[in-house]
Amino acid sequence: MNVLIVGSGGREHALAWKLRQSASVEKLYCAPGNPGTEAVATNVALRPGDKAGLIAFARKEKIGLTVIGPEQPLADGIVDAFEREGLRIFGPTRRAAELEGSKAFAKDFMRRHRIPTAAYAIFPPARAADAVAYSASCALPVVVKADGLAAGKGVFVCPTREEALLAIAALNDTSQFGDAGKTIVIEEFLEGEEASVFAVTDGEGFVTLAPAQDHKRALDGDAGKNTGGMGAYAPAPCVTPAVLQQVRKEIIVPTLTGMASEGRLFRGCLYVGLMLTPSGPKVVEYNCRFGDPETQVVVPLYDGDFAALLRAACEGKIDEVKEVPLTRSSAVCVVLASEGYPDASPLGKTISGLDRAAALPGVVVFHAGTRREENGTIVTAGGRVLGVTAVKDDGPFSGTIHAAYEAVECIGFEGMHFRHDIGKRAL
Ligand code: AMP
Ligand code: GLY
Repeated sequence: MNVLIVGSGGREHALAWKLRQSASVEKLYCAPGNPGTEAVATNVALRPGDKAGLIAFARKEKIGLTVIGPEQPLADGIVDAFEREGLRIFGPTRRAAELEGSKAFAKDFMRRHRIPTAAYAIFPPARAADAVAYSASCALPVVVKADGLAAGKGVFVCPTREEALLAIAALNDTSQFGDAGKTIVIEEFLEGEEASVFAVTDGEGFVTLAPAQDHKRALDGDAGKNTGGMGAYAPAPCVTPAVLQQVRKEIIVPTLTGMASEGRLFRGCLYVGLMLTPSGPKVVEYNCRFGDPETQVVVPLYDGDFAALLRAACEGKIDEVKEVPLTRSSAVCVVLASEGYPDASPLGKTISGLDRAAALPGVVVFHAGTRREENGTIVTAGGRVLGVTAVKDDGPFSGTIHAAYEAVECIGFEGMHFRHDIGKRAL
C-alpha cells in the first residue's frame, strides 16, 4: 500500500525510516516532511493543518494508510475528516484526542475511572483568582499546567510560592499561551522515575512498544527549562516486566475501556507519560500520538512489520498482531538543539558533519528542525534540530550511549547545544 506521513519533525523522520522497511509499503510520502524524510520518502508540500489538501492528495495517490505525527491536526479532527471520506488513517478522532488536548478533561477522566494520577484542582477562567489562593495552600513543589496544547511548554514545576504565582500569571497571559492557559490545572508533585509507554491500539486491544525515557529539561542533570525533549533512550530498565504489567492492567486497559464507554473510542498511539512513584506507576500525562523524541528510539526496536501494526490498529484487528518480545537491543537519541532552546533561537546556521555521523555503524541521524538551501547546504530551522540516534543489537547500554555521542562529535553548527547525560539513568 501507499503510505502518507503527516508532520515534519524527528518523530516523522523516524516513522518514515521505519515504514520504509515494511515490505507492505510501496510508495511513501511525507507532508511536508524535512530534508531527512526526503531520503526515505517523497516530500509533499502540504501543511498538517490542510485537511482538504491532504484528503485530496490521499485520494489522488491511492494512499492506503495515513499516519498523523503531531497532536494539533488530531485535536482539529483530521481523523474524523479522513474517515468520513472512507480513507484509512492512524490516530484518534477529535473527541478521543481530548485526552491530550485538555488536561482538565484527562484529569477528570482519570478520576472517573480510578486511574492513578497526581491529586489536582482545575481552575476555569471564572475561577482564575482562586488558583492563586489554592496554590498558596499546596505543598511545595507544586505543579502548574495549562489545560490546552502548549507544545510541551505549558508545565511549570514550582519549588516556591512565588514561582507558582509567576506560572499562573504567565499561563493567563494570552500573548504567551493563547487560549491554552485560560483554564489552569494545579497538581501535586510526584516523585520518582519518569517513563513513557506507547500502546498502539484499535481501541480495545493494544500492543505496547519498548518503554522509553525522555529527558525533558534543557540542561544536564535535569536542570533548566522544560522542553519538548532533549533526548531519549529505550528500553528503560526502570520499567521492568512487572511494572509494565501493572501499567497495562491499572492504566492502559482502564483508559481504553473508559474512553470506549464514554463514546470516545481511542484508536492510534496512546502515549502514557508515567511517574514510577513509591506507591506505583501514576499518569503524569496522556498524549494521543507518538512521542518526540521517544519515537526515534522506540520504533527502531520494534522487531515486526510496523506498517502492518498500524494498519491493524486502524482496522480493529490488533488482536491479529503478535506481540513481539523485546530483544537485547537498545537505542539512544541525543537531540542537538539551537542556541537558547526552548526559547526562540537564531536559525539558518549551516550544519556540518551529517554524512560523517550517519556513516558510523548503527547510527541514524533523524532530522527535526532542518532546511535544505538552494545550494544543497542543510541549515538549522527550528529549536530541536537533529536527533542523533544509535541502535545496537546487543551489548551494554553504555556502548549505545557511547556510539550516539561519537556521532554527535561529528556534527556542528553555530550555537549547537545538547545534553551530555542522555541515557545515564539506564546505567
Ligand atoms: P507534561 O507535559 O504534563 O508531561 O509535563 C511535563 C513534565 O513536567 C513532565 O514530564 C514531568 O517531568 C513534569 N511534571 C508534570 N507533572 C508533574 C507532577 N505532577 N509531578 C512531577 N513532575 C511533573
Ligand atoms: N517527548 C514528549 C512528547 O512527545 O510529548
